Amino acid sequence: MTADLRGGEWLDDNRASWDERVGVHLASDFYDQAPLREGGGVLDPITRAGIERLHPDGLEGVRVLHLQCHFGSDSLSLANLGATVVGIDFAPAAVAEARRMADEIGLSHRARFIEANVYDARHMLPEPESFDLVFVTWGTIIWLPDVAEWARIVAWFLKPGGRLYFADGHPSALVFEGDGGPGRLPAFTYAYSNDRPDVVDDPGDYADPEAQLVNATTWEWTHPTDEVLRALRDAGLDLETYTEHYSVPWQIFPAAVPLGEGMFGWPDTRWLPLSFELVARAPSSSR
Ligand SMILES: C[S@@+](CC[C@H](N)C(=O)[O-])C[C@H]1O[C@@H](n2cnc3c(N)ncnc32)[C@H](O)[C@@H]1O
Repeated sequence: MTADLRGGEWLDDNRASWDERVGVHLASDFYDQAPLREGGGVLDPITRAGIERLHPDGLEGVRVLHLQCHFGSDSLSLANLGATVVGIDFAPAAVAEARRMADEIGLSHRARFIEANVYDARHMLPEPESFDLVFVTWGTIIWLPDVAEWARIVAWFLKPGGRLYFADGHPSALVFEGDGGPGRLPAFTYAYSNDRPDVVDDPGDYADPEAQLVNATTWEWTHPTDEVLRALRDAGLDLETYTEHYSVPWQIFPAAVPLGEGMFGWPDTRWLPLSFELVARAPSSSR
């Protein structure tokens, strides 16, 4: 299946589902906005440490593009650390809430939010090479049919020498997400770009398992790590670091146990990595 990246059933279904989830998430304990109001942040421990390694002197003056920013909790966490942030998300309710929150906590001068499909980002923000950091974390490329085009968009926006920080669930663990499939086989496909997506009908939500979403159909692509790495290389980015972790900031399976600070891991044996993070750099000379 080759998806039209600018429109179609996959995009309509996913956008409707994400738009509806915004209210569910804002009512949940999963997304705690209180630290933002106190001038702090809600970054998970993996991301917090990753950003500190990249910017040990802080984010003052750093220009960040946050792709798939949801309602801006992480974007505003980065802005509270001094960054100037542009967040992009395709869900109107998410963007409205991100703007409202930025206003409420006095960060609208440093945090701007744009409603757009990732694949339209170049048209919505037509300034190539304008960001020091492109930030993409947790539950992102699984909603995107084409990782090669995603990587080209990331590269388009990075300044020479600028970096992508990317963290997400590990694809080999994501295939088991939820309760698993029949006979305890994996529930999801390990799907290369434009391969057949998993079209899932699930009215529940990770932030509220009791949720009864009306827009319950989603289209998902569990992109293998080799595909992600190849896409970044083909887009002209150099891989600086790649790290796997046995933890992830949501309860990825019923068997996953809380590890503190909102992280979950294996109960005992570490069977598989649950997440990975990477940093990729744009070449220093002009492309
Ligand atoms: C799991 S959330 C990401 C959460 C993020 N880690 C954060 O900062 O809260 C996935 C987000 O991707 C957005 N999204 C999914 N597909 C998209 C697309 N094609 N273009 C833009 N945003 C998209 C959804 O609206 C949702 O806000």
